[in-house]
Amino acid sequence: MPVRVALVGCGMRGMGLAGLLQATPKIEIAVVCDIDAARAKAAAEKLGADGVQSHAEVLARDDVQALVVATDARWHAPVVFDALAAKRHVYVEKPLADSPQTAARLAAAQEEAGVVGVVGYQFRASPLAAVMEKELPAIQPVQGLLTIQRGPMNPQYFFPDHYGGIVDTATHSIHTALWAMGGRPTSVSASIQRGSIKGDRTIEFMSLLIEFDGGKRVCTITGSMFGMRTPNIWQFVGTRGTAHTLDHRTLHVATHDGIREAGNKPPQGLVTRAIESPPEGDSTRRLLERFADLVSGEADRAAPGAATFREGAEAVAVTAAMVRAAEEGRRVDLAEVMGS
Ligand SMILES: NC(=O)c1ccc[n+]([C@@H]2O[C@H](COP(=O)([O-])OP(=O)(O)OC[C@H]3O[C@@H](n4cnc5c(N)ncnc54)[C@H](O)[C@@H]3O)[C@@H](O)[C@H]2O)c1
Repeated sequence: MPVRVALVGCGMRGMGLAGLLQATPKIEIAVVCDIDAARAKAAAEKLGADGVQSHAEVLARDDVQALVVATDARWHAPVVFDALAAKRHVYVEKPLADSPQTAARLAAAQEEAGVVGVVGYQFRASPLAAVMEKELPAIQPVQGLLTIQRGPMNPQYFFPDHYGGIVDTATHSIHTALWAMGGRPTSVSASIQRGSIKGDRTIEFMSLLIEFDGGKRVCTITGSMFGMRTPNIWQFVGTRGTAHTLDHRTLHVATHDGIREAGNKPPQGLVTRAIESPPEGDSTRRLLERFADLVSGEADRAAPGAATFREGAEAVAVTAAMVRAAEEGRRVDLAEVMGS
């Protein structure tokens, strides 16, 4: 039986998700919802589903098991809190919420409700993620570098008045960095630049250093709206090897037996490989299907293979800490912003 979902938010992303939801036999769209009456009507007609304007009407129905939430970011929390209170499973687009405190409360509420909660970081459902999940633990990462170059971006997605811009896409990289490095992020240092292209508060350049385990391991993320012109690379250096990708398809991995003495000695037992991940398909579709499998019980909820609300909250906390660190010119402990 397909999982019956409500699509809440029928804007650009919502309608993109709608096409993917329709394409999979694992899911059936029961109802679509948008506070904009014209959008709700157009989506309902296009998708052959009921159309409503309030998520309360969605939650009053007993034929909806799960919500796919693609409203603008400020509306994620009000909709998702109500959905969790009504014991519905939730896929919510990134970012989970508009503040670390709200995001942490959402994560707690989702765990308390005992329903599935997935945040829309589609990379996690990609073949490259599966390769990295297998390979990275073996190299024992101590240092990471992720670069992001995008063209000029509008500030609409994230928190337009104080983040926006490159941060909208950097939230994906922040989540990837936290997931790939593993362990506990403890503090961040950062610099950001705003307003030189669009003349508003949009962040156009960011350089972020995330410390893990009190600074024993670190990951750097740099992003710009095409100011930097480097390829989008991901690179990890560990005590037992290195891994990098230039195209998000092939992971170049070197493993060795470790360094046992100080000095400029080459590592012993060096083995290098280039691991192709299979052709991508659509990661967002795969993520939605994974969500359906988690809801139906076909996938193990203890190994979700998707970003949990807890992980979504951590990405929001690192983002908030990045901005605070840059604006106050100091290293910010994540405990300062996480759920406090
Ligand atoms: N994962 C990705 O790669 C990716 C890509 C693009 C956008 N997104 C995310 O998707 C979300 C939506 O982005 P978008 O570009 O579609 O925005 P959008 O502004 O085009 O659409 C948002 C829609 O939500 C509706 N809406 C707002 N509040 C609502 C509510 N309370 N109930 C019902 N409908 C409501 C609006 O009327 C609008 O139609 C954002 O969180 C964005 O960050 C994710």
